[in-house]
Amino acid sequence: MKLLLTSLSFLLLAVSQTWAAMPSKIYGVNLGSWLVLESWMLPQGWLDMGGQSCSDCSTCIATESSFAKAYPDTVNEKFAQHWDTWFTQDDVNQLKAAGINTVRVPLGYWIVEALVDWPIETYPQGGLTYLRRGLSWLQDAGITAILDHHALPGVQTPNQQFTGNCTTDIQFYTPYNYHRALVWTAVMATLSHLDPNFGSVAAIEAVNEPIMDANETPDYGYFQKYFVETVRAVELMLGISVPSMSLNVSVSSSNVTAAMIEVSSYSIFSPEVQSALAAAAPILLDIGSQFSMETIFDFNLTSAPLYNSREPLITNFMDVNWQYDNPPNPAYAAIGPQGYDNHLYYSSGVADPNPTAYLESVCNLNRIQADAALGDTPLWFGEWGLPTQFNATDEFLYQWADAQKWAYSKGAGWIFWNFKTEISELAAGLARQWSYLEGLKLGFFTMDPSQYNNASVCDAYINSTST
Ligand SMILES: *[C@@H]1O[C@H](CO)[C@@H](O)[C@H](O)[C@H]1NC(C)=O
Ligand SMILES: *[C@@H]1O[C@H](CO)[C@@H](O)[C@H](O)[C@H]1NC(C)=O
Ligand SMILES: *[C@@H]1O[C@H](CO)[C@@H](O)[C@H](O)[C@H]1NC(C)=O
Ligand SMILES: *[C@@H]1O[C@H](CO)[C@@H](O)[C@H](O)[C@H]1NC(C)=O
Ligand SMILES: *[C@@H]1O[C@H](CO)[C@@H](O)[C@H](O)[C@H]1NC(C)=O
Ligand SMILES: *[C@@H]1O[C@H](CO)[C@@H](O)[C@H](O)[C@H]1NC(C)=O
Ligand SMILES: *[C@@H]1O[C@H](CO)[C@@H](O)[C@H](O)[C@H]1NC(C)=O
Repeated sequence: MKLLLTSLSFLLLAVSQTWAAMPSKIYGVNLGSWLVLESWMLPQGWLDMGGQSCSDCSTCIATESSFAKAYPDTVNEKFAQHWDTWFTQDDVNQLKAAGINTVRVPLGYWIVEALVDWPIETYPQGGLTYLRRGLSWLQDAGITAILDHHALPGVQTPNQQFTGNCTTDIQFYTPYNYHRALVWTAVMATLSHLDPNFGSVAAIEAVNEPIMDANETPDYGYFQKYFVETVRAVELMLGISVPSMSLNVSVSSSNVTAAMIEVSSYSIFSPEVQSALAAAAPILLDIGSQFSMETIFDFNLTSAPLYNSREPLITNFMDVNWQYDNPPNPAYAAIGPQGYDNHLYYSSGVADPNPTAYLESVCNLNRIQADAALGDTPLWFGEWGLPTQFNATDEFLYQWADAQKWAYSKGAGWIFWNFKTEISELAAGLARQWSYLEGLKLGFFTMDPSQYNNASVCDAYINSTST
């Protein structure tokens, strides 16, 4: 009992501090290739681990799942080493010194290990330990975190390393895998509010880069609605007030896991959300005992309503215009604060492959207005980079960094892909256009991210193209 009381007062302290909200202007980087490893970003490191390189990533050991299948005995140890070294306290210090106020943290569904269908699905285990540690560094540095469900159960898009399983057999858009993604969401939302290490988490993103053709993403609109409901159900259970929603009953259970089971029978939530909550409760209990934080889930909710002062999380989706063919609009799913994410890589062919066309395009970008007209606001650019379809000179990259920052800052801000990449002979040239920390050294990025090398960079290009 004494132990419990001590833990409780610690918890009270941890919880009553100011929790993160989204900065008014986002200057961010992605923590890519950390908890979802993409071998193209660390080609030498991947070979050294025992991975392989091939042009069609489904044909060799190019992803986390094929690695885990090939090396069942050593995969956890190899990945623990990667997680320990790819993102460190020193990186946090550098990002902090560079004025970065937000990070987007790509995560696989397999970080909630109970969701993995062993042995058909194989993934490294142990990532949550490193996520908790990394988030605690970010919190100490005052950097806001977005938890990004980057690699979904069943795989959300074909032939991509970033899904953890390079395949054309796409199974995410099915009831079974939507359910697993909602369980993941309930677990992450609960940890975000209760685990003090998650104190810097302000938002959870539902699905990274779903298939663009909405004809190929059946029922994704329902999933959007259930995703938001799941986050809000967890919050209402904890006594956090959510705009325009209330439970209409008071939770009688005296601890969080029991309360989650109780709330999972409330008919104000959709059956899909109810079953996700019921499935999440025992998983949380296991996580609680694995990380010796039982008290977080076991304290007396009725006598210690610690959470009423917490803000609801920002639910986050790719914007409606990410998809075509009559896509569902996530704005219709919103309950409480919500943000939208757009990704823009000119190297994938957005404009003609020359410097002038790139600058004309980005300086006259209309994505923020187009999204806002459909209710998808605030919008941030959660992935972008400096890569080009032509050999870019340094002179151009100064302009290209400035112009993109300028354009994206007209919305909620920007999150560069990536905070770093490998620097090696095999990765020659990669870091120059893909690594924020390298771009900073080379001077493409300014030491203060709100500044520019040339704040008038777009002056010569605005309106020179017809839209
Ligand atoms: C990869 O995805 C395919 C198709 O969904 C699935 O059959 C296979 O089991 C997955 N592999 C792993 C290792 O998870
Ligand atoms: C809320 O509870 C009251 C009293 O039990 C009931 O009359 C009412 O229908 C409930 N409202 C909703 C939206 O469930
Ligand atoms: C929570 O409450 C339930 C029901 O009262 C009880 O069975 C359980 O042992 C309690 N503790 C945890 C950690 O669930
Ligand atoms: C929880 O607190 C309430 C209110 O103080 C009390 O009535 C109840 O007995 C407590 N439950 C447990 C399991 O300690
Ligand atoms: C870019 O430079 C590389 C190496 O110098 C060269 O092989 C390639 O042809 C160039 N590409 C273009 C589009 O100019
Ligand atoms: C800044 O950009 C503008 C517009 O492209 C250009 O006219 C001007 O010369 C640039 N200033 C410097 C100092 O390079
Ligand atoms: C440029 O376009 C904006 C928005 O379409 C418009 O408000 C502005 O007047 C235009 N400026 C010029 C010089 O054409």
